[in-house]
Amino acid sequence: MSGFERHRGELRCDGVSLGEAARELGTPVFVYRRAAIEDAYRAYESAFAGATHRICYAVKANGNGAILRVLAQLGAGADIVSGGELLAARRAGFAPERIVFAGVGKSDAEIALGLEHRIGAAASARGLVAPVSLRVNPDIDPRSHPYISTGLREAKFGIDIGLAPAILRRARRTPGVEIVGVQCHIGSQITELGPLAAAARDLADLSRLLLDEGFPLRTIDLGGGLGVSYDGKDVPDPAALAAAVVPAVEKLPLTLLLEPGRWLVARAGVLLTRVLYVKSGRDRRFVVVDAGMNDLLRPALYDAFHRVEPVVTRGRPVELVDVVGPVCETSDFLARRRELETPEPGDVLAVRDAGAYGFTMSSNYNMRPRAAEALVEDGRVRLIRRRETFEDLIRTEA
Ligand code: LLP
Repeated sequence: MSGFERHRGELRCDGVSLGEAARELGTPVFVYRRAAIEDAYRAYESAFAGATHRICYAVKANGNGAILRVLAQLGAGADIVSGGELLAARRAGFAPERIVFAGVGKSDAEIALGLEHRIGAAASARGLVAPVSLRVNPDIDPRSHPYISTGLREAKFGIDIGLAPAILRRARRTPGVEIVGVQCHIGSQITELGPLAAAARDLADLSRLLLDEGFPLRTIDLGGGLGVSYDGKDVPDPAALAAAVVPAVEKLPLTLLLEPGRWLVARAGVLLTRVLYVKSGRDRRFVVVDAGMNDLLRPALYDAFHRVEPVVTRGRPVELVDVVGPVCETSDFLARRRELETPEPGDVLAVRDAGAYGFTMSSNYNMRPRAAEALVEDGRVRLIRRRETFEDLIRTEA
């Protein structure tokens, strides 16, 4: 049960009419379902219950304060990659010792901010000793889209796993630094478990070597990456992920850290957009809608597939269409060559599974104000971010 169900032809979220939500809140608007986030978090938790573990939600997937608070209240930790995400996570109530701060390019100011907030610090934080994990690159192909594959040697991420021991032996002699773990994240939207299991084994081998040398390791962090099914095909779930990775790490005296982003929030969100026009090309029908690549970049950037459906089905004939946005780029599409019940101006369409990397990757390209966001909880829909205005767009101009 996704919680997004049809009732007399209308798509509803926990009983809330999405047609009415679109009318009331305007479009484009992201609507998230709180219960879906809670269910996903609990499923992840129970899958890993057999191992000492901590789930650190990857804030980059969806950083709205209301969503962060839902996860913080469930007891999640946070995986952050910038000073902004740090402040957002702290503001939402994530305890600093439950936050891991990753990232390829941290500025001095961001590192200082992390230290100030005692990010990742042990409960007994002593003075200013920074607890540091080394991100390693295990040279494993996650068999995902190349742009979101991070564990291959040619990717900019991490330190070659073969060089890690020597580097850590040197780092160990550096005052103010305590090596507390190793980390890797081989990619995102991973739908085969083999690469994740291999990464777990490689990281476990490295941890064992370091523990034998007396490193004070506390954590082993496998990153995020578990994919969701955007197209209805079967994909592995957290229980299958746990079965694939836990055996490699369970004998180690370490806390297993996991950094899921997409899996916790993607399916909890839809993007509602209104049809502006329908236009016929020579051999294409274009459905021009009011959401574009600036609102949901994934189709343009990764050729990603998101289901698109009318919020109200009216039994019109089905056509093959391209659903495109108003932005001046040919890459500005939400769906191509898709069968859709003949849309008419004014219809509202739902772009499914848009809860992760939707709003967070949105921009003001073409001077378009960013969309509103809303949360369905207790059978009601609540605005959690108002739509931007033109004033917002020029506020920072000097
Ligand atoms: N940990 C680290 C260090 C990461 O770099 C990422 C994602 C995650 C955790 C969370 O990964 P997830 O569980 O969400 O797969 N914009 C792309 C996804 C980029 C992911 C970047 N890193 C998309 O829309 O598919």
